[in-house]
Formats: sequence, C-alpha cells, structure tokens
Amino acid sequence: MTAANPVTTAREDGILVARIANPPVNALSAAVRAGLLAAAREAAADASVKALVLAAEGRTFIAGADITEFGKPPVPPSLPEVIDALEALDKPVVAAINGAALGGGLEVALGCHARIAAPGAKLGLPEVKLGILPGAGGTQRLPRLIGAAAAARLASEGEPVDAAKAAQLGIVDAVAEGDLLAAAKAKALALVGTAPRRASALTDKLTPATREEFEQAAAAIAKKAGDNPSVAAILDCVRLTFDTPFAQGMAAEREAFKRLVADDRSKAMRHLFFAERESSRIPGQPKGTTARPVAKAAVIGAGTMGGGIAMCFANAGIPVTVIETSEEGLQRGLERVGQTYDISVKRGSLKPEERERRMGRITGKVGLEAAADADIVIEAAFEEMGVKKDIFGTLDRVAKPGAVLATNTSYLNVDEIAAATSRPGDVLGMHFFSPANVMKLLEVVRAEKTSPDALATAVEIGRKLAKVPVTVGVCFGFVGNRMLSKRTAEVERLLLEGASPSDIDAALAAFGFRMGACAMGDLAGLDIGWRIRKATGKKAPVADALCEAGRLGQKTGAGYYRYEKGDRTPHPDPAVTAIIEKLAAERGITRRAIPQQELIERLVFPMINEGARILEEGVAYRPGDIDVIWLYGYNWPAQNGGPMFYAGLAGLPHIVERLDRFAEQTGDESLRPAALLRRLAAEGRSFADLKESDVAALSAGA
Ligand code: 3HC
Repeated sequence: MTAANPVTTAREDGILVARIANPPVNALSAAVRAGLLAAAREAAADASVKALVLAAEGRTFIAGADITEFGKPPVPPSLPEVIDALEALDKPVVAAINGAALGGGLEVALGCHARIAAPGAKLGLPEVKLGILPGAGGTQRLPRLIGAAAAARLASEGEPVDAAKAAQLGIVDAVAEGDLLAAAKAKALALVGTAPRRASALTDKLTPATREEFEQAAAAIAKKAGDNPSVAAILDCVRLTFDTPFAQGMAAEREAFKRLVADDRSKAMRHLFFAERESSRIPGQPKGTTARPVAKAAVIGAGTMGGGIAMCFANAGIPVTVIETSEEGLQRGLERVGQTYDISVKRGSLKPEERERRMGRITGKVGLEAAADADIVIEAAFEEMGVKKDIFGTLDRVAKPGAVLATNTSYLNVDEIAAATSRPGDVLGMHFFSPANVMKLLEVVRAEKTSPDALATAVEIGRKLAKVPVTVGVCFGFVGNRMLSKRTAEVERLLLEGASPSDIDAALAAFGFRMGACAMGDLAGLDIGWRIRKATGKKAPVADALCEAGRLGQKTGAGYYRYEKGDRTPHPDPAVTAIIEKLAAERGITRRAIPQQELIERLVFPMINEGARILEEGVAYRPGDIDVIWLYGYNWPAQNGGPMFYAGLAGLPHIVERLDRFAEQTGDESLRPAALLRRLAAEGRSFADLKESDVAALSAGA
C-alpha cells in the first residue's frame, strides 16, 4: 500500500468494499479524503455495485482528521464534502467500525446509512480536547441520530464510548460478535432497495420535549465547562438542529471550526497532544532495548504515597506487596487504601466485586525481605537520604537479580541512592504525584548509571499503570518540583510585598489553574515543604511562621486559609494577614496593592526561566516534556499549552524584559533571564522551535 493510495476498493458479493489503510491510525489525510470520495463515485457509477461498505485496516477505524494538517492551507476535497458524497449515495453505505472511530472518523461513519461496530470499538468526538469542535457534521448529524442532549454531552465531554454503549445510544445499529466485515456486508445487502437512512434528514429526535431535555443538559454542561469556547460553540451548533436547515447548521459549524482552529488556544492544545506522544520516547536508548518482564511489584511504605502507588498496580492487575516497618503502620495504610476504594464504590465508579479483586491483589508485609520476589520495587518511604540509603542497601541484599529498584523521592539525588547498592544499573527514580492513584504524571528519573532496559521497564510499567511517563535527569526536585520551587519563592515574596493568599490564588485562577498555590499548599500540607526546608537549611518566612503557629493546612483546619470542620472551602483569615504584616514590618517592607497581571507574571515567568535552565542542563530532553509534566503533574491549564509553550504566547522578549525588572526590584539575581531565554528572545525564536537535538547540543556545551 502506498501512501498516495490509502483507500483501495474491491468488489465482493456485489458490494464495493473500500478499505482505508493509512497507518498508524487511519487519520483523514488529503489522500484518504480523496480516496473515500473516489470510492463513493465508483459505487455510484457502477450499476453492478449494490452497496458500499467502508472498512479499515489496522487497530483503528479512523482516528479523525489529520491533526498535522491543521493550520496549513486546506487541500480539497474537504471532509464535509466527502461525507456529503457518501451520504448522498442512493445505494446503502455501511461503516464497519473495527476500532477507534473518533472525531472526523465518527463523522464519516455518521455519513453512512448504517454502522456496525466490533465489540472493542470506541466511538467519540474528542475535538473539544484539541480546543475545537467537530467540524464535519458531528454537531448536526449526531443530534438528529441520537438526540441533542446525548450528542451535546458526547461532544462537550470528548470521552469516547464503547461499542455496547454506542449501540445503546443509537450511534451504531449493531455490535458484531463475529466477523465484522461479514456483518457489515450482510447489513448492506439487507438495506438494498430500501430508502437510505440519512442522518442529515432525520427529524424524529427533534421535538419540543427533546428540546427541553437538551436545554437542561446544555445548562449543566455550560456551567461545568465555565469559560470554554469549544463547549459554547458545540452547544450553539447543536441547538441549531431544532430550527435550522441542515445545510445552514453545517455552515455555522464550519465557521465555528475555522475560528477555533486558528486560535492560540487550539494551537496550545494540539501542541500538548503531540508533546505527550513525543515525551514517551527516550533518547539515547540503544536499538533493540526491551523492557524487563514485570509480574509482581513491591512498594515500600504504606503512607499516602505508598498506598496510592500500590493502588495503581492493583488497578492495572499487577499483584503488589506493600511493605512497612510495623504491623500497625501496615494496617493503617491498608485501611486507607480500602477506604479510598470505598469512596469510588459509593460514587458508583467502581463495582463492589472489582473493589474486592483489586484489594485481593494487595498484600501487606512487615520487613524488606518481602520484596524478594518482586520484579520491580518502588520505595516510598520517609524523604531523607539516610533512610533511603539504608533501604536501598538492604534491597541490594534481598531483591532478586534483575529487579528494577525505584525510588519515589521527589527531591533527593538518585545517583547517591543508587550508589548505596552494588547494582546501580537497576536503580532509577519513579516520581509519582499525589494522589498517586489519580494524577497521571510519572517522572522517570534516569540516574547516571541507570541501564537502558531498567529505564525502558519503568516507562513501560508507567504506561501500564495508565500514567504519562516522562523521562528526566537528576537534579534537586527534578523538572516539576524544581520549577515549582521558583513559584513558591515568589508566593513568599508577593505575600510580604502586599498580596494576600486569596490575591495569589485568584491570579492563578485567572491564568487558568483550577487551584491556586496557597489552597494547594493547604491541601498537600505545609509541613512537607517545612521539613524539606529544615533539612536543606532553606527559609520561607511566611510558610515557616504558619507552620510554627501549627497551621499545617487543611488537616489542622488552618494554613494560608482557615477551614470549617468537615469542609474544604478556604476562608481568608485575618490571623494570617496579621502574621504576614508582622513579618513584612520586621523586614521594613511597605506593603502595596499588586495588580493581578503583575502577580501572574511574577508567579509564572520565573518558572519559565527555570525551565530554560533545565533545558540548558539537559535535565529535560524537550521543551514539550516540561509542558507535559506541568499539564499532568500540576494541572497546568491545557489551553495555554504548558509553561514553555506559553512563553511563546507571552512573547520571549517581554519575559526577558520583565525578569530583568523583577531581578532589579527584588535584588534577586537568580531571577535574571537564563542565557537560553535571552538568546531565543534575541533571535525572535521560541521554545517550540527547539528540537531534541538542539537541547542535546546545549547540554553538551555546544
Ligand atoms: N492526526 C494525526 N496524527 C495522529 C492522529 C490524528 N488524528 N491521531 C493519532 N496520531 C498519531 C500520533 O501522533 C502518533 O504519532 P507518533 O507515533 O508519531 O507519535 C500515532 O498516531 C499513534 O498515536 P498514539 O500514540 O496516540 O496511539 P494510541 O494507540 O495510544 O491511540 C488513538 C490511538 C486513540 C486513536 C489516539 O491516537 C487518539 O486519540 N488520536 C486522536 C483522536 C482525535 O483527537 N481525533 C479528532 C481529530 S480532530 C477532527 O477529527 C476534526 C474533525 O471534526 C473535522
């Protein structure tokens, strides 16, 4: 199959079968669109052809429009044109949906007169996740086929449904248990001689009652989505189906698509889509490196982190031993895990029998000897170098040969931990984010002596645990926490200079963060940072004073904010203002009102600057890796693409100018722009222009 001819046709049993083969995911490139249009014309022109069946090769049906074509001049035929031609055929057109039918892929299927899906197929309209809306009839055909409320939900959430659910909703006509193509052909032949069922012409779902149902759903969707232009456009377009002719609805959808796809918001979200996929590639791995098999895991430490990591293994079907130093600590930890599962059961997201299966995969043991049969051991014990070294020294003795030995440290030097063993090639970092069973990021820390196959194992296991593993190098705090520490330092300064915790959190909310730095600190517990500062001799006057006053965050009912019993809502607290004002007075600082834009720049630009240094040092392999880390580890707002992508939107020269100003204002020379940042700004380039090889050259000192 050549790339120029990704759609081939064959006459089988009087049916024209058009097969799409455009690996890896059968995206609708210009050549595929042209091939589909040619197939429709071929079916129309040949009197001996009774029906047309669309089938696809490989593991997906069609994953959607070719995202790499967005932003480039359009090449005809357009997708709506192709789908119109398929739908207009007077002969039955049936889609045989073998795998994912997403976005434009589902829209192609909706243009067919019937759809048969394989049991493993997934169907959905994920465009909202790319900052756009379905642009080839999804907002016009799907509501007419399954009802406006259900269509609006699918398109605005962007989550796919499985074949069974699709059948229940009426998206597909049937799920084929046996041979999919045979079932699709049989359906096509059965339809010969009947009037084609064109989704564009259906009206039975457009009634006053369904309109009311839609408006109720739309109100709930809009409320949840907040200020999301994709969702707003989806709702507007779906609403049109009730009183606007199909063609006019299509024109409105097209206009909205063109507007959204040209926006920075969609560019940012598309950047993240590709950055996430690229981040899974580990540079410098010898050809043929394979992951070691992992059938059993052990997690050391039954605290919140250890318990969460154990849940990840149990959820993925991998038996895991949780190891503690005492029976009491172990029981406490296992109980907490059970309670977390109970919450999911109560919410209805986990079946009771699945809860039992998962708990059944977790075994608790006292003593490191219990790690002997594990293929991978993840240490999540106390964050102190001495403790870690002791544990790894013992693991060296008890773990089986070839076991991967990982530390979940969030700051400490993994090279030093590896040196406590006689097998540093097996040692690396696997840094989970709290809560570990929820957060998708996994920083895989490649130490100096980590072997290629140990690294490949950690990345592969990360994927099996449904994480996004990003490989980084060793440095204090790795990528995420190292950059976070720059923001935390600014929070301290800004509080003393005149901002309140609510001002800071409001600025971050305005920037798009779901949770501000102070509320987040209270949630995580302010004592975590306090302990690290005490160990490293660092100071944070405000946070230290809060901790000294027993204000450790939500768990003590008070931190940056005050909390009512049993409620997580942060309330501003005059006691905190008093603490801050006293500290400011002691330092001779005259507090002032700080404009929100200044707050945002003070909080975000130093992080970008640190990201630049991280790239200079080669601790991250690509700017996009940093963006993915912030997206999945710290809920960075996807609509501005992660810190390094955002730098391009804010303008590198502006950031340089501001950082110089901040350095002068605060006397902190570390705020001066990194050399890389200055250089890119001077050259009129942005981080997105840097390739992996450019970054490698930087750290090699070239
Ligand atoms: N366009 C271009 N490339 C795509 C693509 C697309 N729609 N979907 C996936 N790819 C590429 C990936 O970038 C990756 O490339 P790489 O190997 O060079 O990194 C390769 O295909 C494989 O993708 P995954 O690694 O994601 O493979 P998985 O098996 O994990 O997942 C998938 C497969 C579920 C299909 C997933 O790729 C996916 O979700 N794709 C995007 C789906 C999507 O968003 N579709 C809507 C597109 S917009 C649209 O259709 C507009 C229309 O309404 C007009």
